Amino acid sequence: MNVISRRVLERIPGNCAFRPIIARRRHLSQKTKPSELARDFAFAFDIDGVLIRGAKALEEGKEALKYLREHNIPWILLTNGGGKSETERVEGLSAQLGIDIHVDQFVQSHTPFKRLVHRYDKVLVVGGDRDKCRHVAQDYGFKDCVMPVDVLASNKSVWPFHRFAQDDFLLSRPLSSEKFDAVLVFNDPRDWGCDTQVIIDVLTSDNGYYGTKSSQLKQTVPIYFSNDDLLWANEYPHPRFGQGAFRRGIETVYKEYSGAELESTIIGKPFLFTYEYAHSVLNDWRRHAFGYTNDVHRVYMVGDNPASDIRGGNGYGWDTLLVKSGVYKDGDKLDSRSKPRAVVDNVLAAVKLAVELEIKHKLKNTST
Ligand code: G3P
Ligand code: MG
Repeated sequence: MNVISRRVLERIPGNCAFRPIIARRRHLSQKTKPSELARDFAFAFDIDGVLIRGAKALEEGKEALKYLREHNIPWILLTNGGGKSETERVEGLSAQLGIDIHVDQFVQSHTPFKRLVHRYDKVLVVGGDRDKCRHVAQDYGFKDCVMPVDVLASNKSVWPFHRFAQDDFLLSRPLSSEKFDAVLVFNDPRDWGCDTQVIIDVLTSDNGYYGTKSSQLKQTVPIYFSNDDLLWANEYPHPRFGQGAFRRGIETVYKEYSGAELESTIIGKPFLFTYEYAHSVLNDWRRHAFGYTNDVHRVYMVGDNPASDIRGGNGYGWDTLLVKSGVYKDGDKLDSRSKPRAVVDNVLAAVKLAVELEIKHKLKNTST
């Protein structure tokens, strides 16, 4: 059977049955306010390369969040960034983006480390500026939080090439004699050399006692990385190396040194652990900020990094929208797991497209 276009049918006199449907549809699409659809869908936004580039907020980022706030559409921020407390980061982002962001709608790379507190007491905390990550780890509840600067302060020959300034050592803490239970890489290290040495010293110690060696340099302590981004986007025109580059360096040095493969746990996007965590944060936020008790039907993950944002969103069954304002550039190869639902110029275009899709979805449901 030939498919007669809607337009033709419309013009067939007497075909009154169809006209009201069309009229109603046109009325619905023109009249459907995004806020009427807000209980059915939500957004998870990446930050670097989507809402900001380094210190610079992207205008489309500000407009997109303002639009969603005006239409009461729920959203969370889901970043592989970190290095400071969620509260401090949210305050900074609220100022940068000109909108009040609540800490309950925010997940950064190391936030899910909160779920490890009951397992480990003494942890080596790595990364971030100065001792900020020590304070984050303590706020999460870890009892004994040691940073590489503490180890250097106890014995400078551990890494004679260190670049710590006197006031860095003023922030150091005396080492307890307890054994290390785990190594937690919270954020991008500032001294790859020193951190590599201290991390591998702990991993190959005799059951976590710093300064001892395990037999055959066997790994005796677990290590966690809060994200695996090889690349991320800041103000610089070309993407920069991230924590994932550091992890690959640690793995190579460990293998050369011990002859064995490093065993590590990596969280952050694209990994399931982080998406499950983000999903529960999103539903909690929808419940207490919007009163929605239903599980959200559709989540749009908007990101600039195919390997983390898009692969993770696809793997978790979310809709994914890839923007060109960060890591991803037109023509970059996308493997099957990192193919988004759509590629758009920026986050505002992503939000507008998702709202359009939701209205279409609603129309389809109301007409059937
Ligand atoms: O280390 C990479 C990280 O900064 C990327 O952040 O917001 O793009 O996930 P984001
Ligand atoms: Mg990004």
